[in-house]
Amino acid sequence: MTSSLPPAPAPAAPVFIGANPGPAVAPDLTVVIPTFNERGNLEPLVARLAHVLAGIAWEAIFVDDNSPDGTADALRGIGRRDPRIRCIRRVGRRGLAGACIEGMLAAQAPVVAVMDADLQHDESLLPQMLEAMGTGADVVVATRYAPGGDAEGFSAWRGRGSRLATTLAQRVLKVTSSDPMSGFFMLRRETVEELAPKLSTQGFKILLDILASARGRLKVKELTYSFGVRQSGDSKLDNRVLMDFLGLIVSKASGGLVSLRFLSFATVGAAGLVVHLAALRLGLGFALSFLVAQTIATLTAMTFNYVLNNLLTYRDRRLSGWAFLRGLLAFYAICGLGAAANVGAAEWAFYQTAQWWLAGIAGACIGAVWNYAMSRALVWKDAA
Ligand code: GDD
Ligand code: MN
Repeated sequence: MTSSLPPAPAPAAPVFIGANPGPAVAPDLTVVIPTFNERGNLEPLVARLAHVLAGIAWEAIFVDDNSPDGTADALRGIGRRDPRIRCIRRVGRRGLAGACIEGMLAAQAPVVAVMDADLQHDESLLPQMLEAMGTGADVVVATRYAPGGDAEGFSAWRGRGSRLATTLAQRVLKVTSSDPMSGFFMLRRETVEELAPKLSTQGFKILLDILASARGRLKVKELTYSFGVRQSGDSKLDNRVLMDFLGLIVSKASGGLVSLRFLSFATVGAAGLVVHLAALRLGLGFALSFLVAQTIATLTAMTFNYVLNNLLTYRDRRLSGWAFLRGLLAFYAICGLGAAANVGAAEWAFYQTAQWWLAGIAGACIGAVWNYAMSRALVWKDAA
């Protein structure tokens, strides 16, 4: 066969940068570690991983959400010494679940573990988990709640809350794991690739999301361990994480019909209605005309909804500065059209059914869905 391509150049002489380490070994295990302000825990964690994983080809991918304490820089420093350590640095985004998903998708090894950076997870379990993966498990969960495990690192109320959440998840989502809230687990990268489009990037409950999204198709094995006490830095779990969790339950139980964000948006909207009525009452109390009082109440409620949605519903892409003001104006315009859509739909429904309350609810739903869809597309852009 003749070819018009120029002859291949002679192979270049090998270039040596420092010591030539020879070809690196492809890893069999990737450990994904989400971090936010964990600088003080990195060195001991990497040392422990190197110790317990001796004899296994591994790599660790840290996924850092641009921690102000310089976690990413510290990781790069460690990575210069030990190329098994890599860091994905995300800017302008926050969220444990999303960080874990990105790390798992960037993994090189066929098997992926997820664990916390704060030394609360017992890393010496990793070789056993890997072994269990080799004996037919799809997911290996390090559990605190099977016999032999415990959660000494939890305060009393947090322990109770975590148990309650676990029971709820097991009942509603029919998840069989004894600890579906565990942040310490292992699975095949292939499984993550298949499920990734269905997973929520918000919240802490990545394992629960994986198990629920797979609808019982994954064979789960469990190993017990004792959840340790945090050594350095603070926990990032707060009440908003609880809200996320409840949202995930509803979202998964409804087969994805009701999304977590919509739920949050609708809850804020309901609170806005209360604000609206209170402002209207106050305005009328000051002897304003109904038109003026209603206009002020509407603006107050819209502003309240906007601020709350920016703080909660879209906290992972929160607007600030000029973008905040621009977003507010766009939100006013969208809600104005939403009100028109609400009235139009309600009138049509009333004409069809002659039921005032049914028409009212239909109008409110259309308005809410419109406001949600439009503000997601135009104010807090690109949000999933
Ligand atoms: N990239 C990224 N972005 N990492 C985060 C974020 C975030 O927004 N929030 C927390 N992390 C990291 C932390 O730095 C830590 O390595 C790990 O995620 C867990 O966060 P903690 O704040 O220490 O969580 P916890 O100890 O309160 O919660 C643990 O128990 C929960 C079960 O109740 C974790 O294991 C959770 O995964 C688990 O769901
Ligand atoms: Mn922790």
